[in-house]
Amino acid sequence: MGSANVVTEGRDRVRRVACPGSFDPVTNGHLDIIRRAALLHDEVIVVVGANQAKQGLFTVDERVEMLGEVTADLENVSVGTFRGLLVDFCKANGVSAVVKGLRAVSDFEYEMEMAQMNYRLAEVETLFMTANPMYSFLRSSLVKEICRYGGDVTSLVPDLVLERLHARLAPS
Ligand code: PNS
Repeated sequence: MGSANVVTEGRDRVRRVACPGSFDPVTNGHLDIIRRAALLHDEVIVVVGANQAKQGLFTVDERVEMLGEVTADLENVSVGTFRGLLVDFCKANGVSAVVKGLRAVSDFEYEMEMAQMNYRLAEVETLFMTANPMYSFLRSSLVKEICRYGGDVTSLVPDLVLERLHARLAPS
């Protein structure tokens, strides 16, 4: 067997990728993508976008704290925040690619647009991972809505997130 076609260029580089998102709050679908990304890359930085425009149920600090707790067993995963453009965060932190989960075709158009723009802006690559079909219907906003009206989201979010959702959404 020859090895002439094996691409080795760049193999010594650290493969540091970012998993960006709002994570308000982190769901089992996010966690599945983060875990799978961590198996494929040297380092994964999960980054919460902290731009002002989106008012969330949880503060950025709370989201970071929950992400830190649910990824604590993954030694090559760290959690941070960014403000402004994602590509600026990537450049400043030696991140060569962004990993995003695609749940359904409906995600594709929006994600494709961002991926192409991020490449155009700073040559930051985007790698898409297909969501586990178990979670292809799962979104943080749906989880919050279901929980707010008393529905059961037990299997959709990590236990500690479930507790905080109940505490935050409990009728006062
Ligand atoms: O969880 P979301 O809503 O899919 O997260 C979207 C996020 C935060 C990853 C995206 O909105 C983002 O990257 N925002 C930062 C601002 C930016 O870089 N905008 C240009 C994108 S081409």
